[in-house]
Amino acid sequence: MIRQLIEQHRRLEVSLDALLAMLGPTPQARTELGSRFHDAASIALAHYDFEDRGLFDSLRSEMPAFVAKLEAQHDEVRELSQAVTELLRADVMGERERSDLLLLCRRFVAMAQHNIIEEERDFFPLVAIRNTSGWGA
Ligand SMILES: [Fe+2]
Repeated sequence: MIRQLIEQHRRLEVSLDALLAMLGPTPQARTELGSRFHDAASIALAHYDFEDRGLFDSLRSEMPAFVAKLEAQHDEVRELSQAVTELLRADVMGERERSDLLLLCRRFVAMAQHNIIEEERDFFPLVAIRNTSGWGA
């Protein structure tokens, strides 16, 4: 099961990298940026739902602080995703909205990457060692 989560992380990273490549100094078309963002957000949010309901629920009583920290990271990415989605819905986008959009997209990418690193570096190895949840393999 951990292997499955790591495969999902690799897929999410590809999508995050594609989004990040659109956030450079050259302005990108809003529709293209929106499309890349929605790809990354849909992969991230489906993955978080999968982790929250499966892995985290089964480990919440055993490692409450760790699970709470990772869930808070998921919630932060969800909130950033919601904020970006709302900005993308605006009829008119001025310089300020565009600047906010790029900033929020960068935060979205950074938080999603940070969460992947923490899970793979600190959490998954613990799960694999304990293996009381049936998720270790
Ligand atoms: Fe994850």
